[in-house]
Amino acid sequence: MSFLDEITPLKEAALQALQAADTLPKLDDVRVQYLGTNGQFTGLLKQMGALTKEDRPAAGKAVNLAKAELIQTLDRQREELELAAAAPQRATDFTAPGRRRPLGKQHPLTQVTEEIVRSFRKIGFAVADGPEIENERYCFDALNTPADHPARDTQDTFFLDTADRQLLRTHTSSVQIRVMEQSPPPIRIIVPGRVYRRDTADATHNPTFHQIEGLYVDRNVTMADLKGTVEFVFKELLGKEVKLRFRPHYFSYTEPSLEIDFSSALVRKMGKEWLEIAGCGMVHPTVFENVGYDPEEWSGWAFGFGIERIAMIRYGISDIRLFYENDLRFLNRF
Ligand code: DAH
Repeated sequence: MSFLDEITPLKEAALQALQAADTLPKLDDVRVQYLGTNGQFTGLLKQMGALTKEDRPAAGKAVNLAKAELIQTLDRQREELELAAAAPQRATDFTAPGRRRPLGKQHPLTQVTEEIVRSFRKIGFAVADGPEIENERYCFDALNTPADHPARDTQDTFFLDTADRQLLRTHTSSVQIRVMEQSPPPIRIIVPGRVYRRDTADATHNPTFHQIEGLYVDRNVTMADLKGTVEFVFKELLGKEVKLRFRPHYFSYTEPSLEIDFSSALVRKMGKEWLEIAGCGMVHPTVFENVGYDPEEWSGWAFGFGIERIAMIRYGISDIRLFYENDLRFLNRF
């Protein structure tokens, strides 16, 4: 058999072997077998020295063409096998349960806040927001609490070292003024937020806690609307069987002013008949004047209560400090 006749069968055998190799190591074995230093195809090349001068160019061309074809096939096959090795071994089962880590959960105060917000949204209230760093006008003066007012004393708080005596807000009532200054009546908002007081921490006090403020301004708004709204929300939150009591009180930004007491099985368990939970009243005409509303045309009510207090009643927690300690044994129970 002449040299030229040997090329094609060897090439065909090599091509077949390359295509049959179904793993990368097997492919490499085939490469060594045919194209390695001692490979069969390499051996063919070595025989070219024995050819005559006339036969050599045609033989060289044929061998090089065949070799190029083998290398091309080798490369393509290698690429395919590499791709297959990178692909997942089994089809993805989209119905299999996930393997994610537990994502944690919301803080009990956040949960209670969201529930309160949800109840108020049902009856048309929108959530408003305001800054925790306030000035005295929003926190006190515009709320009809001038500098010499005795109510300022118990609320005196953390002042910042700035020329305009900025302070950490003592209540969310400051947002009432901000909202009324910004928008004409009617107003129907609630304001969840953090407040600060000059208090020492004990089982029922903390220098920072959370409140929800409510403000409703429209024509012909009455105290009956206030009572109906508050009852609706508290019954949603704490159960139908709870009782509410409205007691006369004093706040400089409402007239008349009331405190809301609350009674339930849980409160009785705490050894009390009534627990005070909120302040409220009809918005004082001077407050309306301070924001440019005409008190002859508009009336409204406002309330404020502590979120911690509600959460404590709701879950039967006796120490407010548990909310701030971030002890997972406590947090994981909600
Ligand atoms: N700002 C009061 C407090 O922090 C709560 C309060 C009472 C808010 C009466 C009101 C209100 O809007 O009308 O104790």
